[in-house]
Amino acid sequence: MLRRTFLMLAAGVATLGVSAAAVSAQELPKLKQKDKYKVGFAQTESNNPWRIAQTESMKAEAEKLGHQLVYTDAAGSAAKQVADVNSMIAQGVDLIFLAPREEKPLIPAVMAAKRAGIPVILLDRNVDQNLAKAGRDYVTFIGSDFIEQGKRAAEALDKATNGNAKIIQLEGTTGSSPANDRRKGFEEYIKNKPNMKIVASQSGDFARDKGRQVAETLLQAHPDATAIYAHNDEMAIGAISALEAAGKKPGQDVTIVSIDGTRDALQAIIDGKMLATVESNPRFGPKAFETMARYAKGEQIEPWVVVPDRFFDKSNAKQLIGEAY
Ligand code: AHR
Repeated sequence: MLRRTFLMLAAGVATLGVSAAAVSAQELPKLKQKDKYKVGFAQTESNNPWRIAQTESMKAEAEKLGHQLVYTDAAGSAAKQVADVNSMIAQGVDLIFLAPREEKPLIPAVMAAKRAGIPVILLDRNVDQNLAKAGRDYVTFIGSDFIEQGKRAAEALDKATNGNAKIIQLEGTTGSSPANDRRKGFEEYIKNKPNMKIVASQSGDFARDKGRQVAETLLQAHPDATAIYAHNDEMAIGAISALEAAGKKPGQDVTIVSIDGTRDALQAIIDGKMLATVESNPRFGPKAFETMARYAKGEQIEPWVVVPDRFFDKSNAKQLIGEAY
């Protein structure tokens, strides 16, 4: 596996005409102080409210500050996202904001930008820390603590079920940092809970309909499941449809916890169909451009700019749904 990853990385970097050693030896590119920048934002996909809210936040902030934003949508393809970054490099952008779809396949894109002298700021998802590092290969990672999100989801489920749950886990995109870390955080929490067990776990690719289909299959194989942990709200909403189609009452027969904080999830909490959702804040615009400005000024940027997240359940969903996306 490690060998495959290395070959993939070496091939990706070689395609860009540079050896891995030469890339890692280079310094992190600097950013000149200017009033207006031409900035790239390489989005991973636009198939859910979270991604749409993130894109809107980035576009609104760029417009407010008068920067030109070169926006691309990889439509769920890591290969296209690499090509999108290469196209931004060819267009001579000053800096690239990248939301890497998966941890490993986007490494060549990060390295290509570095070699071209263009700083990269990772947004919301991270890359493999064995292959690239903040402060050396890219400026920083701005994003939530996904491990903590998984722990908080597990803790909510623990409290609601008195530590008794047969859990179906709907995982996010395979190989993405939120899927890896949300699983890790959740599993770490429940490992000391003898009566909380994951009975089945499969990827629903962070998508509503895929989540529904996977939940349907896993519910057929495990009709005694009492809880669903979805790595995002879209899959949780898909799971609610699957439960209802199977004649089960979401929120009563099966407890659902998830992550994001979308309007549909908050409505499901209000309707009693979902227990809770841990926020993953998608409104990156202000923090992203503020970090870019700090970097241009020559400030030392911390390797991880942590985005703080709230928690939504029946105690606050009604009050906060007005500001949800
Ligand atoms: O990277 C953040 C995750 O990506 C969000 O939880 C999800 O909804 C999105 O697709």
